[in-house]
Amino acid sequence: MQKRNHKTASLTTHAYDKLPASIRSLVNHAKEAAEKAHAPYSNFMVGAALLMEDGQILTGNNQENVVFPAGICAERVVLSYAHANWPGTKPLKIAVAARRRDKDNYAFVTPCGICRQTLAEYEQKFRSAIEIYMFGPDQQVIMAAGVDDLLPVKFADF
Ligand code: THU
Repeated sequence: MQKRNHKTASLTTHAYDKLPASIRSLVNHAKEAAEKAHAPYSNFMVGAALLMEDGQILTGNNQENVVFPAGICAERVVLSYAHANWPGTKPLKIAVAARRRDKDNYAFVTPCGICRQTLAEYEQKFRSAIEIYMFGPDQQVIMAAGVDDLLPVKFADF
């Protein structure tokens, strides 16, 4: 039997207040973007903010559809927008925040499997990890240093 060793997931939790101003700004952009989500079916409003290597912050939010599977997550909206318009610019960090329309506090959100695969695509293209900041309840932010921590043993590994 051959053993294949993979890096184990390492996520870190941070108090929002203790994060550097640049990360707090990225999280705030994600929160603002969530307020503009088109989520009339789930009422789960998600925002994503992407810091590009040129310093610009792009935002997106979930865009749902009456044909449910046609809906698209916030993360893929912003990643696709970024790469459609700035195909040569590396994405560095992404922040995600979500809340239910009828609640003031934020829900814990992590990118879905398809969004993880999409993050992996751009990490692969730019040969550079994308840091992922997931805003949650109690002003806590969970950070993954790259998509490997959320999607180990992915297809591109082989
Ligand atoms: N959603 C996102 O936009 N991002 C995530 O990370 C999780 C889920 C959206 C998809 C759907 O519009 C709604 O949240 C409920 O699942």
